[in-house]
Amino acid sequence: MYALKSIALLSFVALSTASCSREQVSFSRDVNPILQNNCAVCHTPGGAGYLKSGFSVATYQDLMKGTKYGPVINPGSSVGSTLVRLIKHQADATINMPKDYSLDLKNHQQTIMPGTGARSLSDHDIGLISKWVDQGAKNN
Ligand code: HEC
Repeated sequence: MYALKSIALLSFVALSTASCSREQVSFSRDVNPILQNNCAVCHTPGGAGYLKSGFSVATYQDLMKGTKYGPVINPGSSVGSTLVRLIKHQADATINMPKDYSLDLKNHQQTIMPGTGARSLSDHDIGLISKWVDQGAKNN
């Protein structure tokens, strides 16, 4: 009896984790808030990262357009996406993202001074972005 119960419990746990990993990640609900909170300060027109690379997260269309050299998201392949490699810190240390920064007060305006290092997004946020790319990077 005890053994039967644990088998039932185990298959329940297995089923619920499987359905969880199939869950659809949403751009507007899950991904965009991460980008706005961690990237927009530099990657919107006028920002330090935008000026240097042309990459903006202001809209979904901007995000998919990528840098002045082309896309950084390969829909369906997180492994083949520059953006995912940068937030997983798998790139050159000077371009891992999100870059750290300090604030400089000039002419009564705070200016963002990008540093040479980068901080890490949480594993949870990196997981959401990777999964969203693997699911096709949709505007959902
Ligand atoms: C403090 C400012 C800052 C923040 C915050 C920041 N970036 Fe950047 N980002 C830069 C700068 C500066 C560059 C240009 C790097 C270079 O070419 O030297 C850059 C370049 C990039 C590039 C282009 C890399 C290439 O191949 O040329 C991507 C993609 C990028 N950032 C993504 C992100 C993402 C995603 C986030 C948020 C998770 C983020 N960045 C947060 C400043 C920032």
